[in-house]
This record gives sequence, C-alpha cells and structure tokens, in this order.
Amino acid sequence: ILCALLDLYMVVCQELLIVTIATKETDGFRRFIKSCNKYKLKVSVVGMGMKWEGGDMDMGVGGGHKINLLKDELKQYSDRKDLIIMFTDSYDVVFTNGSEDILSKYKKLGSRVVFAAEGFCWPDHTLAKQYPAVSGVEKRFLNSGGFMGVAKDVYEIVTFKPIGNKEDDQLYYTKIFLNKELRTRWDIKLDTKSTIFQNLNGALGEIMVKFKGPHSFLYNVKTRQTPTVVHGNGPVKEEFSRLANYLGDGWTKTGGCLSCKDDVLSLSSVKISDYPKVMIAVFIHHNIPFVREFFDKVYKQDYPSKHIDLYIHNKMEYHHEEVKSFIKDAENSYNSLHYIAPENNVDEATSRNWAVESCIQKSCRYLLSIDATAHLDNPKALRLLIEQNRSVLAPMVARPGKFWSNFWGAISNDGYYARSEDYLDIVDSTRRGLWVVPYLSEVYLIHHHLLPDLKTAYINGKLDPDMAFSKTLRDQGRLMYVTNMKYFGHLINYDNFDTSKKYSELWQIFDNPVDWEDRYIHENYTDVFQDDAVAEQPCPDVFWFPIVSEEFCKEFIDVNENYGKWSSGQNDDPRLNGGYENVPTIDIHMNQIGYEKEWLHFLHKYITPLQKKVFEGYQNEPPQAVMNFIVRYKPDEQPLLRPHHDSSTFTINIALNTREADYEGGGVHFIRYKCKVLDTKKGWLLMHPGRLTHFHEGLRTTKGTRYIMISFIDP
Ligand code: UGA
Repeated sequence: ILCALLDLYMVVCQELLIVTIATKETDGFRRFIKSCNKYKLKVSVVGMGMKWEGGDMDMGVGGGHKINLLKDELKQYSDRKDLIIMFTDSYDVVFTNGSEDILSKYKKLGSRVVFAAEGFCWPDHTLAKQYPAVSGVEKRFLNSGGFMGVAKDVYEIVTFKPIGNKEDDQLYYTKIFLNKELRTRWDIKLDTKSTIFQNLNGALGEIMVKFKGPHSFLYNVKTRQTPTVVHGNGPVKEEFSRLANYLGDGWTKTGGCLSCKDDVLSLSSVKISDYPKVMIAVFIHHNIPFVREFFDKVYKQDYPSKHIDLYIHNKMEYHHEEVKSFIKDAENSYNSLHYIAPENNVDEATSRNWAVESCIQKSCRYLLSIDATAHLDNPKALRLLIEQNRSVLAPMVARPGKFWSNFWGAISNDGYYARSEDYLDIVDSTRRGLWVVPYLSEVYLIHHHLLPDLKTAYINGKLDPDMAFSKTLRDQGRLMYVTNMKYFGHLINYDNFDTSKKYSELWQIFDNPVDWEDRYIHENYTDVFQDDAVAEQPCPDVFWFPIVSEEFCKEFIDVNENYGKWSSGQNDDPRLNGGYENVPTIDIHMNQIGYEKEWLHFLHKYITPLQKKVFEGYQNEPPQAVMNFIVRYKPDEQPLLRPHHDSSTFTINIALNTREADYEGGGVHFIRYKCKVLDTKKGWLLMHPGRLTHFHEGLRTTKGTRYIMISFIDP
C-alpha cells in the first residue's frame, strides 16, 4: 500500500517540463506548440530568434548547437531532483497526450534518464556492436530528438563535455550511453519499445493512427505501445506531417476535423470597406477548354471586387481574344488589372514570380494564385479560404469522377508523386478536413507574410514551376494545407483539347462532361424528371423536351455551315451504304464533321432517359443510330419534306433556330393525327415513333433558313 501511495505521489507530485529548441517560429514549431497546449504541457522554448548554428541536418551530421543552448537553459534546474525535464525537437514533433501519461510511462520504464530509440545506428554505424542487444520488435539505437530524466541528471549529461555547434548531438549522447560507467552513473535507458518516444524513420510500417471516439492516437503494432511523443526524424518529414493531420485529435472518425476550427477568422463581422486586399493571379499556360466560364466564376466570387487586384498572364495566343473580352467587361470592377499577353513572351516561372512581387508592391494581404484549369464553382471559395486562415491553403479541386486533383497526399523519395493511404478518401470527400500535404498546384491562397520569401519560389533547380513552388515551401519548413471541408470547385482536363476545330468545346463531352453539360444542355432539361412532372405532348405520342442550350444551337449551326459540304438533296447519296436515300434532305451527317462518337454518347446520356420517361417498357442501351444529321430548309433550296416514315424505332428532331426570328413557315405535320407542330422551340426536341403510326411531313419554310438536327434511333 505504501509503495502504491508512493508511486501515486511520484506521478502526481513530480513536475514535468518540456524543453525544446527552436530558432525560428516555423509552421512545424507552431504545430508542436499547439499539441503542447492541447495537452496542457508546460514548455520552455530555447533559442528563439537566434541564428541556427547546428548545420543542415538534412544533409548530414549536426545539432551540437542544441546541446550548447540546453547547457545555459538547464543551469537553473541543475540541482532539482523533483523536476523531470523532457527535451524534444520541435519542428517535427507532436504530442499525443499529457504529463500524467508521460510520467506514468516514465515511472514504469524505471530509469532516471530515458532516451528515444531508433533502428539506425547514426551517425557512426561502427558503434552498433557496442549497443546492448534487444529483442526483435525493439529498437536498439539511441536517437537524440527526444529524452527525459531528472533535471539534475539531464543537466549533468548536457554539460558533461564540450561540443562544437556543428558537431553531432546524437553522437555526443551515444558515446555517453555506450560508456557503461556513465550509463550507470545517470541510470540511462533507451525507450526501445517506443513506450514514450516514437521515431518514425524506418518505422512507418510499424505504426498506425487509431481512433477512439473523438480521440486519435498512434499505435505501434510491433510493440503494442501507444507512444506519446511522435517524431518525424530524418527524411520522413512529409509522412510525419500526414500522420500529424490526425494526431492530437486533429481529425477523427466521429469528431471530424477538429483542427479546422483552430485559428480561424470570420469575415462576417468585418465592414466591407475593411476587407483584406487580395491579388488574384490568373495563369493560362496551356490551351484550356471552358476558359470563359472560368473567368465568369472568378468574377462571381462573393468578395468586394474593389478590394481585388487582378493579374493575368496568358501565354496562349488561342485564348487572347477570350481574355481581352473578359478584361473589357470586368476591368472597371477591380481595383486594378494587369495583363501580360502572349506577345510579351514571358515564361511561366517568371510570370508566377512577378505575381508574388506585384502582390507585395500592392500591399496585398493575400495572393490567390489560380490557373484557368481550376474552376471555383463555389462563389464563397475565396472567403472560405481567407477564413480558414493558414499560410498556404488550397481548396481541394479534382477532375470530376477522377482521382486527379490539385494536391499530392505523399511524395516519393525522388520528389515525385506518391499516393498516400488517405488520398482517395480525401479526393472523393468521404474524409473531409484540413490536410497538410507535400505538394499543391493550380489554385491556392498565400498569406502575405510569406511573400517576401517566395519572390523566386517558382525557380528551383531544373524543376517545373509547380514542383519548384512546393519544394521551395518544403525547404523553408512551411506547411502547405489543402481543405475539402466544403465543395470549392473542380479541375478542367485539357489533355486532349483539340483547338484546330471551331468551337472546340463542343467536342469536350467526354473529357469535361460537367462543363460540357453546363454550357450545352438546356437549363430546364432535368425538370421533366421531377416526381410530378408531365412531358409536354403537342400531338399524340409526340413529346416535347428542352434539350440543348441556345449556345449549343448557335455553335452547332456555325460548325456545320463552316464545314459547308451540304448534300445535294438527291436520292443518290454516296454517304450511305446502299447509296440511295428514299426521302433525301439537304443535310450534313455527324460523321462528316467528326461528331459521330460525341453524338452517340449524347444520345445515350441525355436522350435515353427522356425516351424511358415517355415510351415506358422500351429499352435498348446504348441506343443505335446511323442516321444523325443536321437538315437545312430554305425557300430557294429545299423548303419542305414530303410525307414519309422514318426508318427508326423513334426519332428526335431538335429545333436549332427560332421561327419568326430566323425563318417563317416550317414545322411538322403528323398526318394520321391531323396534328401540326408549328411553333417549334429553339433547343427543344420532338420525340416520336418512326415507323407506321407517325407518318409525317416537313412543312414549307417560306422565308429565311430553318435548321433541325435529326437522329433515327434504333432503325
Ligand atoms: C533529428 C535529431 O535532432 C537528430 O539528432 C537525429 O540525428 C535525426 O533526427 C535523425 O534521427 O536522423 P532531424 O529531425 O533530422 O534531426 O532534424 P530537424 O528536426 O530538422 O532539426 C532538429 C531540431 O533542431 C528541430 O526540430 C528544431 O528543434 C531545431 N532546429 C533546427 C532549430 O531550432 N533551428 C533550425 O534552423 C534547425
């Protein structure tokens, strides 16, 4: 009982002080402090603002500076036996629990001084054989990124011998540990099972993040321990950052994203006149479809435009007119607008670096860098990013239905893309949160305090500008975040964008189906699928649906007129298998303009659902159609079409222009029903059975030109 009470006394009454070294307030340091605060750990930070003299530890040995800083700091505790000092690095460390947990584990380890352990004997591997043997699951070698002990002992250890700032701290402690006399003197033990300290280098396959209700913790599956101090030592910083997204309850399965709620801002109480100044820098470095819509979405951001400076770099001649037209409309709305046109011959990296400079010169608070591939569908995107308040933050955007996004979940050893275990869940938003990631591109917001360090960020060795930017940030110890807490928008796929065509976007039905639909499908297309909706029926079994947009009609007519090879309207038609057309029209077939594949897909995706709605019980997927053609009726050419049946199960007939405005006369007459549809509507289709019942004729066009698009479906 006495022992038990004494044990309790030790845990309750011993005081724990965390001591760390940090010469700069890096993002990693802030993450460390945040975790200390969360678990109410008392921390003493040493060296802040000083010049780091411990060398570049990424490149090799170093870190002696840490010991020299500790010598001064720990002097005040040199005779304290009641105080437990824990030293840890700070840039790549987080805590997952508080002092009670640490002290009880420390007590169980049963030594006065405990050092972290790892699987590599570094920096002098020849010393390996001098280490005491351990079991298979344990780590045998000392790591200096974390240790703890009675203050008096720790002080004696750090002051035991002089060390140069650039000499290696790990070697210093290793030599002490391997000296049996010293090891015994200070009662030093290694935390070989990662009871308290988990070094991740060489151990990533042995750990996992686990969740318990709204709490997260790290679990070592080999030693079955739940370590409290997690250290991304050596070359595993990116994977450490990924794990740290979850640790400290940052994200859990039941609690969601707790870290998203930290350090946020609100713009709702800010007066419009006080809104922070933003520079939006737009980059067009490829031929990209749907750039007009891209600009439209930039323009519609819910943010006072007089607080926005716009910077546009367009390298592509193809987009020049489109950009100029946007500038003409939008110029006066913004505080300023700077356009770098294709003829200025500015390369991508330079223009991106200039945007940084320009933002600084304009005293902006934020730089939103956005490529014309990134559509901000959410008009609140910019506000939400500002409110989330991180130094570099991207809204998660991806190609719809694909796993191609604007971030990487992990990075390979040679600096290229690697897929993290959580990447797919983040991209499809089954896991929503705020994630530190090693690479961002296409759209991100940068806080102005970083800009002075990013003036040449887009040039880094031989890397492409996007890779250079992320590498620059990683090298500077900055954390890049991506958020998928909300839907922000999507990415355009420009891989196969063939700009040799007029209205090239018309061909984008496969690569950019969402944007294609937005531009070309009638805004009321889906109305008929509502529960109580009834399709319009102007004649018996002739149904009327809105199908394509005004823009589709205009571009489609233009494409065909531009192609210009209208048929002669004779019965002999070399385009057909049999070479003969019974009821010829003056027309162009879709395969002539290279639109057959696209049209068949359109039939399947948009026409089949309509057909199923009105001709219930008939099903043939995908629909077949060899006759897909645009017809032109003109008084002095072919003005009408004599009564006939179509060789189809059903036919669609899309009106591409407007009666009265574009032509007079026209319309369809269903003879058996004595029913005419004269007031055909632009962008609407008529759907009717082809053979037997719907004997019909095309009525005379008396003035102007009438265009319709016909498909004989399932002939
Ligand atoms: C850590 C250990 O510190 C090394 O002793 C050990 O050899 C190494 O892991 C390893 O296991 O390979 P590492 O994680 O690579 O080193 O280095 P950093 O985290 O970049 O630097 C160590 C600590 O020094 C930082 O966390 C920070 O606390 C401090 N530091 C470093 C500064 O205060 N300022 C600096 O400019 C750099």
